[in-house]
Amino acid sequence: ICHDISTPVLVVGAGPAGATAALLLGRYGIRSVVISRHRGTANTPRAHIFNQRAMEVLRDTGIEDIVKTAASNKEQIAHVAWLHTLNGEEYGRVHAWGTKPDRIGEYLVASPCEMSDLPQSVLEPILVEEATKLGVEFRFSTEFLSQIQLPDGRVVTSVRNRTTSETYNITAQYLVGADGARSSVISSLGIPVDGKQLNNAFGVHIRADLSKYFTHRPGSMVWILNPDAPDWSSHGSIRMVRPWNEFLVSMHNAKQDVNYEPCAEDVIQRLHQMIGDSTIRIELLNFSRWTINDQVARTWQKGNVFCIGDAVHRHPPINGLGSNTCISDAFNIAWKLAYVLRGIADPSILESLTLERKPVGDGIVRRANDGMLIHRKLWTLMGSTKEERAVVSGALQAASVEGTRLRKELRSIIEETDDEFNALGIQMNQIYSTSPLLLVEDNDSPPDLHGVNLLKQQVISTFPGLHLPHAWVVKDGQSERVSTLDLAGHGQFVLFTGIGGEGWLQAARDISREDGVPVKGYGIGRGLEYFDAYWDWEKVRGIEEDGAILVRPDHFVCWRCKRLVSNPGSRLRKVMHVLLRPP
Ligand code: FDA
Repeated sequence: ICHDISTPVLVVGAGPAGATAALLLGRYGIRSVVISRHRGTANTPRAHIFNQRAMEVLRDTGIEDIVKTAASNKEQIAHVAWLHTLNGEEYGRVHAWGTKPDRIGEYLVASPCEMSDLPQSVLEPILVEEATKLGVEFRFSTEFLSQIQLPDGRVVTSVRNRTTSETYNITAQYLVGADGARSSVISSLGIPVDGKQLNNAFGVHIRADLSKYFTHRPGSMVWILNPDAPDWSSHGSIRMVRPWNEFLVSMHNAKQDVNYEPCAEDVIQRLHQMIGDSTIRIELLNFSRWTINDQVARTWQKGNVFCIGDAVHRHPPINGLGSNTCISDAFNIAWKLAYVLRGIADPSILESLTLERKPVGDGIVRRANDGMLIHRKLWTLMGSTKEERAVVSGALQAASVEGTRLRKELRSIIEETDDEFNALGIQMNQIYSTSPLLLVEDNDSPPDLHGVNLLKQQVISTFPGLHLPHAWVVKDGQSERVSTLDLAGHGQFVLFTGIGGEGWLQAARDISREDGVPVKGYGIGRGLEYFDAYWDWEKVRGIEEDGAILVRPDHFVCWRCKRLVSNPGSRLRKVMHVLLRPP
């Protein structure tokens, strides 16, 4: 028999967004219950590219090593290629995911973490296990039905145990809706979702030894452009799940309106055609239809219900931003909930979720859909019938005006995918410009973004609203270097200063002790707690040595002061008050 229960936070959804939110809450000492309508974690690989920002979040929770061990490394995802068939002609390839020789340095500068590849089906059990160790309670096969918010703010959620069909209530102070692209939580709030659902694609999860086609150009995926394909799968990609014997094959149609339901034989036949070798043994693990979306929820919250992940942003897998953004969403909301529940901050700080994260959601949805158009442009160039392809293939090798034109166009379109496969900016920036949780001093100004390609380039600045830059610093000559991101986070506000800034450190200690707001101060400079051995921090800190930079628990700079002031204690106390207890 299921009894009504209560919990500080109810999370609906145990995917990357919900499980990360619960894990973080657990780390911050906040109890939560997670419900998921499915019997267990993801049973198909789904999202896979794991970017540096997402890994930084998991590094903050202390599980980077576990995740890294389970993931494929950046060398294994170093290419994306376009092929006639897997064993056939190659039309071109690119260095992907930060492995491009002229960009590698930018990725190293950006983060202490590396790009990697981790199927969602492997990530989710890790998140769930680690969260469970912290006391998070997961209730699988449990479906969200409806919610009402009481006058005192508590949220009463009616749920159904799908095994026994019993319904019961979970009362929570806050509800986090992380229930994916078909979010019932968003619907229950009556929040409009702007944009549209686009076409369908099929995901085919297979086991097959394809190592001979991948080991000489290791990569996360290849696109197959053979022209004699059926309408329901005119184009497709073969994505590595595990090197090199487990794959997820996406099958797209060039037209938008194909509703054909292929049988297993159709699928195997098409797979052999994509591979170009019908002798390859294929084990079909799963076949499912999924919808490609172009949608963002208009607001991400109502009262004490907050939505994150695919519940509020839905887009194609281009740029691999799906689950990564879910993880960053969770990092944004979890500390705020913890601070409010612990009485450190006013509940009004929670209003910042939409202000800060919706622009990020808008940006990734736009980019992923724009990126899809580039693939379609290539499909059109190459022709979709055998006859068209024969003409294009011939011309591509011909010493003719048309041949020169086609070769240039092929190269130009494939080079456009650089915005997908080497888009460090959209992965790392996530700039917040409007939020009550940011404070800008009168004499300060934002970095000049003129001429900066925000899609490709990371903006490195300590201006409030930007992510704390990564810089390696050392505690003493005998210890391993650590990143400034390792000093930040862990549920605390962190203040960085340098030589001459002892007054700030004293202020941080006083506020932590007297006001109960966790502010940890670090001095970085010669003779201080941390030594800027490479002068990396000096190059990016953007303040004088005795200035101060205040960083939120989610690694975002929320305030900085260029120089030491006459009364750092009262200045910092005022800043913390404005941020956490706005009038
Ligand atoms: P997600 O959908 O992962 O999880 C939702 C959770 O909510 C689940 O635990 C579910 O059980 C639960 N839930 C749903 N309704 C509920 C209810 N009524 N009551 C209780 N629980 C409920 N992205 C990418 O970046 N690269 C990729 O290659 C792919 N590939 C891909 C393939 C396929 C087939 C799919 C379906 C999706 C992708 N994606 C992807 C998208 C990626 O999977 C997606 O961005 C993340 O999974 C979203 O994570 P969330 O945690 O927001 O939702």
